[in-house]
Amino acid sequence: MSETTKSRATWSGKLAFVLSAAASAVGLGSMWRFPYLAAKYGGGMFLFMYLVFVFTIGLALLLLETSLGRKTGQSCIGAFKAFGKKYAFIGIFMSAVPFIIVPYYCVIGGWVTKYLFGYIVTAPEVLADGGNYFSGFITSGAESIIFMLIFMVLTYFIVALGVNKGIEKANLIMMPALIVMAVAVAIYALTLPGAMDGLAYYLIPDFSKFSPELVISALGQTFFTLSLAMGIMVTYGSYLQKSTKLTSSVSQIAGTTFAVSLLAGLMIVPATFAALGSGDAVAQNSGPSLMFIILPQVFENLGGAATIIGVVFFVLVLFAALTSSLSLVETCTSIISDGAGWSRKRSLVATIVFVTIMGVVVNLGYSSLSFIQPMGEGSSILDLLDFISNSVMMPIAALLTCVFVGWIIKPQTLIDEVRVSARFRLANVWSVVIKYIAPVVLVIILIAYVAQAMGLFSM
Ligand code: PHE
Repeated sequence: MSETTKSRATWSGKLAFVLSAAASAVGLGSMWRFPYLAAKYGGGMFLFMYLVFVFTIGLALLLLETSLGRKTGQSCIGAFKAFGKKYAFIGIFMSAVPFIIVPYYCVIGGWVTKYLFGYIVTAPEVLADGGNYFSGFITSGAESIIFMLIFMVLTYFIVALGVNKGIEKANLIMMPALIVMAVAVAIYALTLPGAMDGLAYYLIPDFSKFSPELVISALGQTFFTLSLAMGIMVTYGSYLQKSTKLTSSVSQIAGTTFAVSLLAGLMIVPATFAALGSGDAVAQNSGPSLMFIILPQVFENLGGAATIIGVVFFVLVLFAALTSSLSLVETCTSIISDGAGWSRKRSLVATIVFVTIMGVVVNLGYSSLSFIQPMGEGSSILDLLDFISNSVMMPIAALLTCVFVGWIIKPQTLIDEVRVSARFRLANVWSVVIKYIAPVVLVIILIAYVAQAMGLFSM
């Protein structure tokens, strides 16, 4: 994964590729971000939009990015440049996204690490106190920075030692374990009193909840979880052998990611509903802290087993988060090394310095810098970075990519690439999505959202 374009590494086969891409995809996006967004935006309606986006635009772009990478054998910037110098800017724009995401990703990684420690050293009731434990922790400054640094150091070490492959092998056990554990927790959470109404809130779309903001959040979440619109999948595709079937690989990646998100929502949303009593209360109280407040309450109901469940659960989430942060740090490193022509070591050091400083700033956004509330009352720097990357830059990057492939290099170029190893019966449908549907939908969503944000209409 780390070689330069001159001596490209390749995946050992389709399974290795699907597993690595799924490892990058399944992470905090599914476990932490999805449940709180679903809770915030009306449950079923958000789930429904996410489902629609994953299996339309998400799947189409996943195929586009991986086939573009495989065809050109280049990572993001090079892949666009391969068709003319003037297109390099698309790759450059996309490349900025992981640099915005990693710092706050590591902050959340630190929260997960803290909860793991919390379950090891304190009684489970202490963590299940309805949010005081959590807010005490994130506003602490020093303590939250320390846990972020622990998470970062783990990530940097793995990248620096180049043992990602070993980590990905371990994933072969950890990912199924995470799924089994999540199923068990979800089933248990559904037995809590009041959870059935919560289940209905989570699964049944309420179309009156529809709004441009919901739609753009579901779209951003699709890109975030599938690791799209930031060049990563182009790079992954560039390591692919010509014999790997792209069509079935991308379907498996999208299916796994959706399934894990669905499950994470089942563990958290109905339980939140049970605790708060109504959909409106759920929507008002949901934010980045949701998982860290609700899950300890669910676990506490288990009595004596709470500690064990808490430890095992957060180990697995930590693992899922690490495999994704690895992929983010790797990407930043290779962008710097390709862009500046620096050695891998020097590029990694530059990435580490940047990510660490930014991570500290994001952390302080909850303590000494908490007067900075960029997105209105009570918002944080983390919210701003999350918003800029997911709701602004990724939709624009996706739009540029679709126009580039649909109208400049033409879908046929990539259809031929996919057909080197697979039948691709839906090639025509895919062309229509890339040329017309995705760009039109993306433009409408962006315009509607800006109009709503500017107060031109309300929903
Ligand atoms: N897809 C990851 C998640 O859901 C986040 C991520 C994005 C990881 C981009 C790598 C690259 O947590």
